[in-house]
Amino acid sequence: MCGIFAYTGKKDAAKVLLNGLVSLEYRGYDSAGIYLPESGSIKSAGAVDRLKKKIPKTGFTGKSGVAHLRWATHGEPTELNAHPHADCDGDIWVVHNGIIENFRELKEKLIKAGHTFKSDTDTEVLAHLIEEHMKNEKTFEEATLAALNEIRGTYGAAIQYRQDPERIIAARMGSPVVLGVGKGERFIASDPSPIVPHTKQVVFLEDGEVAVITPDSHTIYKLDSTQVKRPTLEIDWSAEEAQKGGYEHFMLKEIMEGPEVIRNTLRGRLIPEKGLAKLGGLESVADELKKIDRIIIVACGTASYAALVGEHMLEEYAEIPVEVELGSEFRYRKPVVNERTAVLGISQSGETLDTLEAIREGKRRGALTLGIVNTVGSTIARETDAGVYNHAGPEVSVASTKAFLSQLTALALLTIFLGRTRKMSAKAGKEIARELLALPEKIERILENRAAIERLAKKYVKAQDFLFIGRKYNYPIAFEGAIKLKEVSYIHAEGCGAGEMKHGPIAMIDENFPTMAIATKDSVYEKMLSNIQEIKARKGKVIAVATEGDTEIGKIADDILYVPKTIEVLSPILNVIPLQLFAYYFAKEKGLNVDRPRNLAKSVTVE
Ligand code: AGP
Repeated sequence: MCGIFAYTGKKDAAKVLLNGLVSLEYRGYDSAGIYLPESGSIKSAGAVDRLKKKIPKTGFTGKSGVAHLRWATHGEPTELNAHPHADCDGDIWVVHNGIIENFRELKEKLIKAGHTFKSDTDTEVLAHLIEEHMKNEKTFEEATLAALNEIRGTYGAAIQYRQDPERIIAARMGSPVVLGVGKGERFIASDPSPIVPHTKQVVFLEDGEVAVITPDSHTIYKLDSTQVKRPTLEIDWSAEEAQKGGYEHFMLKEIMEGPEVIRNTLRGRLIPEKGLAKLGGLESVADELKKIDRIIIVACGTASYAALVGEHMLEEYAEIPVEVELGSEFRYRKPVVNERTAVLGISQSGETLDTLEAIREGKRRGALTLGIVNTVGSTIARETDAGVYNHAGPEVSVASTKAFLSQLTALALLTIFLGRTRKMSAKAGKEIARELLALPEKIERILENRAAIERLAKKYVKAQDFLFIGRKYNYPIAFEGAIKLKEVSYIHAEGCGAGEMKHGPIAMIDENFPTMAIATKDSVYEKMLSNIQEIKARKGKVIAVATEGDTEIGKIADDILYVPKTIEVLSPILNVIPLQLFAYYFAKEKGLNVDRPRNLAKSVTVE
């Protein structure tokens, strides 16, 4: 997720834009850039403060411009790849948030037409495409509309033409764009946070809409050039509330982003009609992957629980032996690894030292090293032989939620990708692909019911201990539910294989020690009912995560959190959502710092 910001008016555009980028830093901070028609462009790797240091004390002036904060998806996070990007002559400048799926075919066509590209990004294609259309006597606005009609993918973009500096074009498809309406000034941004210090009057664009702004006007069109009217709204958010999309905490905002994160992780990677998955980041090692007879997944914390789900997926559908190792353990063991072993590191930050050192150990021992990483250009992404980027956008809250959903989704894609080169049937691939595409809508249904989860968290908020139990695909989700609760609420919470309770943990159970049981309809459902009975027999309270329409479980559990039905292999993606929300509301009810829990860091880059 990147941040775009554009301004046209009477103020010092450099000052307005650079200050606005600071409030957008939560959206991405691996590189930044600014363009003023009167002064040119300045870009830098790193966050806004590094860009600010490059701005000359004098001479970088203007009354309009575009600026950008990047969260890399295509192309390393370097100064060269930082936005804004321009056409051949430096007349057309673009800042963009999103993914242009057909950029490769467009780039080839434009190179054949004589265009020269400077960066590896998908975004630069848009600038050259507009340039190409302007060669055919189209105006800047006509050429931009024509170019956008050729784009497939998502964009929240601002485009500026050097010969017409007061005018800036905004375009929205799948990535948010909001206009700011001030007196003699207009703004374009990814969210209201950089706008609210100047005006509370905003206009939210809808998908497929283009807006042309000047200091005193804004006109909105559809892609077919028909004009549309959009209401100007008065928002009463502070800049910080705007960064959180109006939610109280980043953790809730990121849980609510779940459906979009699944869509972005899947985008361009499924061929559902054939039951196949396309993972461009693994194409370079396709031959080596054919020789792999074992996978060791190394990860830490929440990522390690995603790994445990992945073990079930890959063994059941790709029939590849998989073992999961904590990064902090694998790196000190004497593991048996050879060139037919793949060591797969899963890491949201791509910087977790224990995971990184485990990958290095695997590489030293001759393994093929792979990554499932959210942060483009991170150390793990750079040091592994190949990998899959999550495209989940920056995750601000220390408690990992949306990234976890993306990790599970990426593992399902990897399962199809590897499985279909082995014995996995097209039928199985199609079934999983179809259900993956149905997940966002099912998650939305769970999120719509979050008030019931909040009520339940308040009901149990006095608990000092919590047991989480699950089996098979949901055994790891029991541990994930426990880590979510303990890391934001500081109470004792532990995951446990439901079948393991009788070997010790059930001794803890009494009326003051509640249990969260993941008991959706699957191949071990009856076993889970028995485990719930065992707990009830010891006066333990039970909250059950259950499948919509299940009338049985209500007869034994004290409280129920329903989720829509899905296939067993994907059930962890739905079942974890109520647990994430339960942990969030529990900690919020306790008045704790949900986004920044004590003693924890977002990325653990120490041993
Ligand atoms: C998850 O909620 C925790 N913040 C923590 O367990 C985290 O998952 C772990 O530190 C791994 O981080 P990574 O995914 O960035 O490697």
